[in-house]
Parts: sequence; structure tokens; C-alpha cells
Amino acid sequence: MNKEVVLSGIRPTGFLHLGNYFGAMRNYVRMQDEYNCYFFVANWHSLTTHPDTKELKNSVHRVIAENIACGLDPEKVALYIQSDVPEIAELYLYLNMMAYKGELEKTVTFKEKVRLQPDNVNAGLLTYPVLQAADILIHRAVKVPVGKDQEQHLEMARNYAERFNHRYGDVLPLPYAFNYGGELVKILSLDGVGKMSKSENQMNTLYLADEDENIRKKIMKAKTDQGPAEPNAVKPDYIENLFTLMKLVSTSDTVQKFEDDFNHSSAGNCIIRYGDMKKQLAEDMIRFIQPIRTQAADIQKNQDLLKKIIQQGADKARDSASKTLSLVRTAVGMDY
Ligand code: TRP
Repeated sequence: MNKEVVLSGIRPTGFLHLGNYFGAMRNYVRMQDEYNCYFFVANWHSLTTHPDTKELKNSVHRVIAENIACGLDPEKVALYIQSDVPEIAELYLYLNMMAYKGELEKTVTFKEKVRLQPDNVNAGLLTYPVLQAADILIHRAVKVPVGKDQEQHLEMARNYAERFNHRYGDVLPLPYAFNYGGELVKILSLDGVGKMSKSENQMNTLYLADEDENIRKKIMKAKTDQGPAEPNAVKPDYIENLFTLMKLVSTSDTVQKFEDDFNHSSAGNCIIRYGDMKKQLAEDMIRFIQPIRTQAADIQKNQDLLKKIIQQGADKARDSASKTLSLVRTAVGMDY
């Protein structure tokens, strides 16, 4: 039976956090039985913004280990490292001939990065979406679980596939962004300003590698206020966010208790105690993160196991990639 191909990439440029877990990894885990899944660490992409590779190997290993600790099964999915699949680089070369300088310069993520690193506007940064298209098209993936910020890249991938097919014949199916409908949870940072981040605002982001004490400290410092001024008040973003987190890691009874306390509170009669709520949330969060953290750490310490997993992923990915590349080469006429 032919399952649809799902693919997504994770840049190894920081620590995975709760937003990554509930926005992405949890969905990957759900997809692994239903689809033919490819998940990879985009280490070539990270060179466009992080040319210093001192930390890279560790980060790549950590991302692999954390994904497995979150429930990805390397027996079921292809979990691999981008640079282990040279076929991607060759497809990137062909796709670069389909990509125009003007449209690349207009890409939102490119303009943002030019603003952030005006002294390193390299060609890799410009053609980042072309490499991403090669990542996807090399496995002829049709479903790509990504957040909103990646939709423009997906549209570009479709354009390159279409141009390729138009010029050389129908080889590459068109990929689309994909998630489980409205179920995507958005997790704000603990100060209520923006989203949790792999590399910025670390005191307000909960990482899957955080120690218990650190989790406690961060949650206890999360932004609250003096409480609602009237019963059934609308929750400010930062309070809603605490409830969102609680719904993800606490029992429904616990959530209900604090919901009731909130709804029965008013100025002068504040029943909800945010201090108590945060204490409870911290303990439940620790219970959630701890097993992931320890399993990921165990895997990272086990070099033999890691090596085996990485090799297994590379073999699966190359097997699929070489099939596509051979169709591509034939279509282009590079089959001498
Ligand atoms: N650009 C993606 C991000 O920043 C990472 C990525 C690279 C990716 N190649 C991909 C995602 C292919 C999906 C498919 O998050």
C-alpha cells in the first residue's frame, strides 16, 4: 500500500522548547503510523546564519535524541541528517536554475535575515528556499507539517516543482503545508511577549532540556497581575497562556479548579491565587519534561546507539532520494 509522503525539517540552531513540542513534534509522532514520514535535521540550512560550526555537532545530536525522546520511532520514520544525503545538493543545483533572483530577494524570511545580519548576505541565504524545496521534492513529499511562517517557502517549492515539470516532464508532485486543522496550539513566552524561542528570551522559554529547578524558577517568574476585576472576566494573553500550558500538562480537575477560581474572582474578592496556580503548573510541567529530558540525555551519551540511528536514517533517506534523483537526471537529460 502506498502511503502519502510527509516530510519536515528542523533547524539545529538552538534548544527545542515546549512550543516546538506541542506545535510540531507531537504531530509528527501522530503521523508516523499513518504516513510515510521523513524528518530531518537541516544542518546545511543552519550554515546560512550560523557559519561557526563548533556547537553544531552537539546540537544535531541533541535534536535527534530529543525527537526520539518525544516519541518518534526511527524504525517507523526516516530520521536523518540533511548533510548525509548528497542527493539533496544535486537536486538543489537543478532547482537553482528554476529560481529567479528577483523572487528570492522578495522572500519575507530573506528580507528579515538581511536586516538581522547585513554583513553576511551570502548566496546560501538568498537560495535558502531553493534548498528547502530540494529537501521536500527529493522524497516527492506532498504533505509538509510546518507553521504559518513557512507557507511562503512551500509556495516557492511548488513553483519550482511546476517549472521543472513544465520544462522537463512530470516528475515532481506539488507539496503543501499541512497540520492537524485547528488543533495547532500556540504557546507564548512566559512574559507574554511573542512566542517561545529556540535561542532568544531563554528565561521565558521552557526547553525540553531544562532541569527541574530551572523549570520551577521560570514558571514562578511568569507574568501575572493582581487578578480579574469581575467574575468571568476575559483573560489577558499571559494568563490565558498559563491556562494553555496547564491544559497541556495537568489533569482536567486541576485546570477546572483554577478556571472556577478565576471565574468566581472579582476585585476585592480574588479567589484565584496565581502563586498556587504556578506552583501546581511547575510540578506538572516537571513531571512532563523530566522523562523527555532524561531519555534524550541517555541517548546522547550512548554514542554507539546514536551512530546506529543516524546511519539507519541516512540509509532510508538515500534510498528514497536516489530514486527521485535518477528520475530527475533522466528528465533533464543528464543520463549519459
Ligand atoms: N525552514 C524551516 C524552518 O525554519 C526548516 C526546514 C528546512 C524545513 N528544510 C525544510 C521545513 C523542509 C520543512 C521542509 O523551520
